[in-house]
Amino acid sequence: DVSDDDKDKTKGNGVKRKNSIVNGSSDQSRGGQNGHKNKKRRSSVHNGDTPQSKDSAHGPSSSQSKRPHVNGSGPSTPHSAKFKAVQEQRAQLPIAKGREALIEEIRKNDVTILLGETGSGKTTQVPQYILESGLARNGMIAVTQPRKVAATSLAQRVAVEQNVSLGDLVGYAVRFDEKSSTETRIKYLTDGMIVRELMSDPLLSHYSVVIVDEAHERTLRTDLLIANLKTIQAKRNPKSDAKGKGNADASNPLKIVIMSATLDAEKFSRFYHNAKILYVKGRQHPVKIYHSAESQLDYTDAAMRTFFQIHTDQPPGDVLIFLPGQEDIESLQKSIELYARQLPRDKPEVLTCTMFAAQEHSQNNKAFAPTPPNTRKCILATNIAETSITIPGIKYVIDTGKCKEKQYLARTAGGGFDTLLTRDITKSSAMQRAGRAGREGAGVCFRLYTEDAFNNMAVAGEPEILRCSLTASILNLKCLGQNLEELDLMDKPDLETISSALKTLWLLGAIDNNQKLTAAGRQMALFPLEPQYACAVVASKEYGCTSEVLDIVSILSASSKLFVDISDQRDAVTETRRKFKHSSGDHLTVLNAVRAYREIAAAENKHARREWCRKHFLNERTFLEARDIREQLVVTCTKIGIDVNASAKDNDEPVIRSLGHGLAGNSALLQPDGTYKQTMGQTIVKVHPGSTLADKKVPAIIYDDLMYTNQIYARGVSAIPKSFFLTHALLNQKKA
Ligand code: CDP
Ligand code: MG
Repeated sequence: DVSDDDKDKTKGNGVKRKNSIVNGSSDQSRGGQNGHKNKKRRSSVHNGDTPQSKDSAHGPSSSQSKRPHVNGSGPSTPHSAKFKAVQEQRAQLPIAKGREALIEEIRKNDVTILLGETGSGKTTQVPQYILESGLARNGMIAVTQPRKVAATSLAQRVAVEQNVSLGDLVGYAVRFDEKSSTETRIKYLTDGMIVRELMSDPLLSHYSVVIVDEAHERTLRTDLLIANLKTIQAKRNPKSDAKGKGNADASNPLKIVIMSATLDAEKFSRFYHNAKILYVKGRQHPVKIYHSAESQLDYTDAAMRTFFQIHTDQPPGDVLIFLPGQEDIESLQKSIELYARQLPRDKPEVLTCTMFAAQEHSQNNKAFAPTPPNTRKCILATNIAETSITIPGIKYVIDTGKCKEKQYLARTAGGGFDTLLTRDITKSSAMQRAGRAGREGAGVCFRLYTEDAFNNMAVAGEPEILRCSLTASILNLKCLGQNLEELDLMDKPDLETISSALKTLWLLGAIDNNQKLTAAGRQMALFPLEPQYACAVVASKEYGCTSEVLDIVSILSASSKLFVDISDQRDAVTETRRKFKHSSGDHLTVLNAVRAYREIAAAENKHARREWCRKHFLNERTFLEARDIREQLVVTCTKIGIDVNASAKDNDEPVIRSLGHGLAGNSALLQPDGTYKQTMGQTIVKVHPGSTLADKKVPAIIYDDLMYTNQIYARGVSAIPKSFFLTHALLNQKKA
């Protein structure tokens, strides 16, 4: 069962030359661009009107001499050893050789599609090349990322490469966190953030170049961006045959660069009028791939056994294990650490690190630190380590073949809901994962699935737009005066999903009977929240309890759960949690926990706070993140005249009612037989056993979401007066 399909990875790129960037090989370029083979003009930069542009003709190493934006604070001096080393590294990247050809292509074409293996330097270098060549004129360069972690860590890296403080020349913007200034020319941002920016700047006129990175992931926001960029470009870029006609802003043309690690670029090219496809050849070493002989029932257990086999039998080199999600990562980490302590003394130490989107930045960064001597590092990661991030030192990859993916079940449950399902990865992910082992030398990949299973994998994943709820997106598009149905999308979602989203928006009072955006809907869209929670915040104004609603909503919007579940200490957890328990349910239980933490935080030092959280099985990270989120929500509230200090004191009812406005679609009524049935659908839902209302029957409930396992469970549940539902839609519409 040993195979070596390393060749898979290079097959099809049609690149056999030394030259990194091939800009005309006939199987890659489409749309009559053939024939422009490797036009290598030294004087390729035509708009040489900025000081930086001259540098580009001399390659990256000289760009350091003229950097107009150097800021005195923080960065190392231009000639420091560290800075030299960084420039050396830049020049060594595979993409550096193709720099001029690449800039030339971007200069010539409105849209460029750039493919290349992870680690070749696309994400960090292309924006700098563009900046240094003067191609961006005076506008900014946006680089979009599907993931927050990637956006912030890349900005940090590029700031170091440019020798500037983060937030000056190089900045980032992610939800609830931004570091940029008027100086900023290169901005890393999540695809969600740039879609939000469309609201205040519909033509994205601040940007001269938009680089859509990791486009192959086809996230919902990336798809919306790709569609919008096409229309924006049609408006901003004058076509030679339509001299200035209908061009709102012809003096400010837009360049688009689509970047991706996989070979599925044809579709992007067709979408953008047969745009040119370029390829960067990476430095990939051979990777030996082993499939398991039979399918594994327990992939975490199999991963652990494989890790210790590597550790005892194989030469030095770090190990990267791909797992579907945080829970698996944390439990495997514990097992590995436990087992490692029992190893004989003469074996190297085992150092574990974890990487997943919800984890704090500094924790994720630990994986990048050099491995200490006589130690083997074991990194446990989700698919964030698949393409967005390059981790040095990896020689072995263990691939469980699983990932977690959001799936919207529009049909299953009347109203429809998102679920996060663990599922098999695609072929292209499997190849990416194996590729992580061959970055610095020959490597080995252990697949915990059979070769047959690999062969049966889907080639690429389904775009997110076809499998997620569209409520927030449709609301945001309405603010832009756009209807999702009319958008020029690469893939169009089905009508059922669209109408379910419209129904929810109507219930929230965000759109009226004619599907027109209401004033309340416009306010909701200003909040970087799910529309349900934005609606609750807006509603809290009338009930005079904005302070409490903000406390709750910011916790619910953080990326990790507040209440930690430790399965082997369940009794202790239940006992401790009783302290915060509120009789009306989970929302006010959250509020109780927030209040308790606030008291501790005011009185105690950092260490005591952490200890308190640990003792109460609360995730401090969630508190800290929620505090930042709350600050942002306060800004938005203040802008639209909502008094953020309005408090209901100890009166719970207004808080529940405010939440009820947002969660009206997520509600169920008690049936005579003791089950709950959705008010908006026919589905029977059970209260999740982890809920404070699990053992109590109340006439009516609202809930945050549904989880689908063997049954449909409601999570984040609160009791609400039944009478509320007789009037809520009317209330929302009247307010609107
Ligand atoms: O986008 P692509 O995968 O082609 O490469 P990249 O993200 O631009 O990374 C190029 C190189 O920059 C990596 O091989 C790393 O050596 C370095 N890098 C880093 O040191 N720290 C980061 N946060 C990102 C990249
Ligand atoms: Mg990249």
